[in-house]
Amino acid sequence: MSDTTEDIEIRLVLEAIFRKYHYDFRGYSPASVKRRLHRAKDHFGCRTFSLLQDRLLHDPTLLSPLLSFLTVQVSELFRDPAYFRTIRELIVPHLRTYPSLKVWVAGCSAGEELYSLAILFREEGLEDRTLFYGTDINLEALKKAEAGVFELDRIPLFTENHRRSGGKSSLSDYYTAAYGAAVFDKSLRRRTVFSDHSLVSDAVFAEVQLVSCRNVLIYFDPELQNRAVGLFKDALSRKGFLGLGAKESLRFSRHADDFTEFSRDARIYQKRGTP
Ligand SMILES: C[S@@+](CC[C@H](N)C(=O)[O-])C[C@H]1O[C@@H](n2cnc3c(N)ncnc32)[C@H](O)[C@@H]1O
Repeated sequence: MSDTTEDIEIRLVLEAIFRKYHYDFRGYSPASVKRRLHRAKDHFGCRTFSLLQDRLLHDPTLLSPLLSFLTVQVSELFRDPAYFRTIRELIVPHLRTYPSLKVWVAGCSAGEELYSLAILFREEGLEDRTLFYGTDINLEALKKAEAGVFELDRIPLFTENHRRSGGKSSLSDYYTAAYGAAVFDKSLRRRTVFSDHSLVSDAVFAEVQLVSCRNVLIYFDPELQNRAVGLFKDALSRKGFLGLGAKESLRFSRHADDFTEFSRDARIYQKRGTP
């Protein structure tokens, strides 16, 4: 089937973003990119994608708002509490056997997932031996993650999620309310590095015992998903754990045989022990 004019234009927009700004969305799942670019086109008041491409190429200030259309930032503290309950009850006992630990939260958005793990690790007494890496391509989100400030009206949901995840303390122990915001305790990110890293184009940067990458692979096409899972495999130590979101699995992955299914419900996999 031949491409529609719009399909051609969309590909050219993605090519322009890649060539000029080195953000590579060419391997993202087409239907979702198309939907997001439509919203961006309307937002910027461009009649066609070619006009959007023209604006983008000549006005670098468009990039940051465009990225916020292309990268979905939905997240919560202890989002999907059952996942964190599984980490607490089934993964932590394994992690306890290591004298030092590294955890990589890939696609960490504004840090909600990472703060959840930092709180969980503190409650389980693992915090002092753990280094956390939170990575994302959205620099605005990473700045928010570094600040650790969340809107106060999100706190009731976060508190309920924390409780349902098996939380051993009150979430209010970890933040101070100020000026309509919840400011999370700086000590929670004392052992965290937030950094710009793309699962599309960057390499492995550390050996880790746990990778948590939820609600990210859904935006990638199968080839790109294989690349990302390959990175996780290379980053994990023997018997390390890979947690994917409820919406993702390794079922069709090229790397499926390198992992065993550790928790089917939570979609947590364990890297096989063979080198
Ligand atoms: C829906 S959020 C998921 C946030 C969090 N992991 C969760 O499940 O609550 C998806 C995140 O993936 C990030 N992302 C998209 N493409 C990426 C890439 N190539 N490399 C790293 N992160 C990416 C987005 O910027 C966004 O912060």
